[in-house]
Amino acid sequence: MKKILTVVGARPQFVKAAMMSRVLKDDYEEILVHTGQHYDKNMSDVFFEELRMAPPAYNLNISGGSHGAMTGRMLIAIEEVLLSEKPDAVIVYGDTNSTTAGALAAVKLGIPVVHIEAGNNRGSLNNPEDVNRIVSDHTSSLLFACVESAMKNLRDENLADRSFFVGDSMLDAFLYYAKIVDIKTRTDFTDFGGNRVEIPDDFYYLTCHRQENANEHLLQILSAAQELDAPVVYAVHPRNRQRITELQKEDPFDNISFINPVGYLSSVALMKNAKKVITDSGGLQREAFFAGKPCVTVFNYAWWPETLHGGMNRLVKPDKNDILDKLSQPVEMDPTYKPFGDGHACEKMKEIMEQYFGK
Ligand code: UD1
Repeated sequence: MKKILTVVGARPQFVKAAMMSRVLKDDYEEILVHTGQHYDKNMSDVFFEELRMAPPAYNLNISGGSHGAMTGRMLIAIEEVLLSEKPDAVIVYGDTNSTTAGALAAVKLGIPVVHIEAGNNRGSLNNPEDVNRIVSDHTSSLLFACVESAMKNLRDENLADRSFFVGDSMLDAFLYYAKIVDIKTRTDFTDFGGNRVEIPDDFYYLTCHRQENANEHLLQILSAAQELDAPVVYAVHPRNRQRITELQKEDPFDNISFINPVGYLSSVALMKNAKKVITDSGGLQREAFFAGKPCVTVFNYAWWPETLHGGMNRLVKPDKNDILDKLSQPVEMDPTYKPFGDGHACEKMKEIMEQYFGK
């Protein structure tokens, strides 16, 4: 049996890896390595528990610090694991520092890399996620794109011979879990003090984690949320907790329920029940599209331009008025438009891997 080593580190990667592990498990030995990039219970452990993932074989406990330092420490530690495990291939996901470290460590040892969610970059080197995706794409032997626009980028970068459009493993996960989650049975919505928070019937769902939106932009986003016609549930990434506590000294933002980060199932439940979504996350803008919820994305570029179809997702400036204006505009959902595949991306990736590596 061939041995695959999977490197994960940040919350969306846990979800994708859980879906992929299920299809790999009968035919491959899989070794899971958690870099430790996300380490809070709500950012990490809860995903493993809820998605019934086996605990990682290795937890490298590497997080924080500058991007270079974090990536460098991961590279050193992953190389050691690769030297002792000697896998036949390494799987990495998306665009995080864990992705780049995993891909670089493997390719330098001559181990083929499979990059899942390849190709979504804007060809610029101005943003850490774009840098991570470009480096990972160019060091991988097999590239799986979840949308056609990503395939186009890969063709333009002369990577067509190793690239495949398979659809989005996040859609596989969303279709599977959205059927079974019920917001009424979720009990993990808590405020910063750990007290249970009731989710209203009618609400907007807000997330914001990008470093670009951590400072002045955050105040604009909160000011917009404060003026909306229904309460806003904001699942706060740990990087913003302290800043929010400071801003609340000036204004309590009483239209916003600030809650701790939620696990995947509660996030799916919030998505299913929200009226609209405000985010800067690539994953959440796709899930809003899967759920048919209008979304605004506080960023100047759409990594998934497919979500912009019919105004379902609109890019907004980090500006209160722009956010409120774009959120109020009508949208047109075309139920026949399925750019993220058919919910069977993981099976397709496994078939292609079998052709490439054998079983
Ligand atoms: C990272 C990825 C981003 C991905 C996102 C998913 C990079 C460059 N960015 O962004 O592509 O979409 O994950 O959520 O890899 N922190 C905690 N507790 C945690 C995790 C982080 O307090 O459990 C703190 C860190 O110490 C750091 C900050 O939050 O100061 C940002 O975390 P980091 O891992 O650098 O990036 P993310 O913003 O989560």
